[in-house]
Amino acid sequence: MQSTHYQNCIDAYRTVYGGNPTHVVRAPGRVNLIGDHTDYNDGFVLPMAIDRWVWIALCGRRDGQIHLRSMEMAASAVVDLGRLATPQKGWAAYVEGVAWALRQAGFPLSGWQGVLLGEVPMGAGLSSSAALEMAVARAFATVSGFPWEPKSMALAGQRAENEWVGMNCGIMDQLISAAGQADHALCIDCRELTYEAVRLPPETAIVVLDTATQRGLVDSAYNLRRHQCEAGAAGFEVAKLRDVSPASLAAGIGELDGAIGRRVRHVVSENQRTLWAAAAMRAGDARRLGELMVASHTSLRDDFEVSSPALDHMVASALENDGCLGARMTGAGFGGCAVALVAAEAMEAFIPSVAVAYRARMGTTPRIYPCRASAGAEQIWAHDEMGE
Ligand code: GLA
Repeated sequence: MQSTHYQNCIDAYRTVYGGNPTHVVRAPGRVNLIGDHTDYNDGFVLPMAIDRWVWIALCGRRDGQIHLRSMEMAASAVVDLGRLATPQKGWAAYVEGVAWALRQAGFPLSGWQGVLLGEVPMGAGLSSSAALEMAVARAFATVSGFPWEPKSMALAGQRAENEWVGMNCGIMDQLISAAGQADHALCIDCRELTYEAVRLPPETAIVVLDTATQRGLVDSAYNLRRHQCEAGAAGFEVAKLRDVSPASLAAGIGELDGAIGRRVRHVVSENQRTLWAAAAMRAGDARRLGELMVASHTSLRDDFEVSSPALDHMVASALENDGCLGARMTGAGFGGCAVALVAAEAMEAFIPSVAVAYRARMGTTPRIYPCRASAGAEQIWAHDEMGE
């Protein structure tokens, strides 16, 4: 457990508070392999937790307060558990929101002080905010002594984001950050909140391709898509688009307004692709998984209209390589990251080749990094290793 971030977090704690932390916790960011804009339609998603985390080194306090120093922001926040009333601004709202949502869900909360170190790039579409929420929830579980239940923790994180921060996200990001498994993606049923771990295909690698473009207007465009999906579900007289089968889509799509019809077609086909992708992974069929990822990108670009020129160029740059089995935009869209499935033997050539091709098309340098599928939020007993 000797990563640089782990050690830096402990060192920063000592500098800020004097003395050692008693625990270190961390929660990962995520990349979604397939199944986008399906979670809030009660559908299926197939994300994996990545090996980039939000870390917190901490120690309990007896006064019912949270004192937190963010190393990235070079700023501090204080949250009083006795006065959770009005949301603060910025990153402190996530901390407070998680405290509020956990309390609403009936978890007894104790205070703590800590240092926060984030290695999930912010604003890139890798769920740095869900990682922050789950790291804070993990810190509360540690000091307050309640067991880690991924589902209730994810629901509290989502509620914090929806009702305290004001971002109307689905459950995918929090649930994968809470429940991820090493070497596996999770096929999540977003209605039942159940999941199955499916192993990544052998001899392949997952590569995150960050366009390094700002995700402008993402919140308003995201909310508009949600409303369009609700209108589509109403048109089919079902509660959620999860309930529209491919057969009833074919029969009923002509009745819908053009844009709404395309949104519905994306969601219904994406749910199907996600289940097929999980089946392909169970069978170790990387080629099939890759084909489904490419079809997903086309659907997100043309039917759901959430891609961007940068994302389309990135996906095209990736797919030019023989060893690239599939690539697609990932997450909410409008910028941010794509994800590629690459044959392990082709990896060495893949990264520089995509960087050159993307730069030729867009004139900017992308950030490209392979990712390992990691475990969800976890606690690390710092004092065991403190004597070194
Ligand atoms: C964002 C949201 C998720 C999900 C994706 C799109 O990441 O936070 O809940 O809706 O967009 O799949």
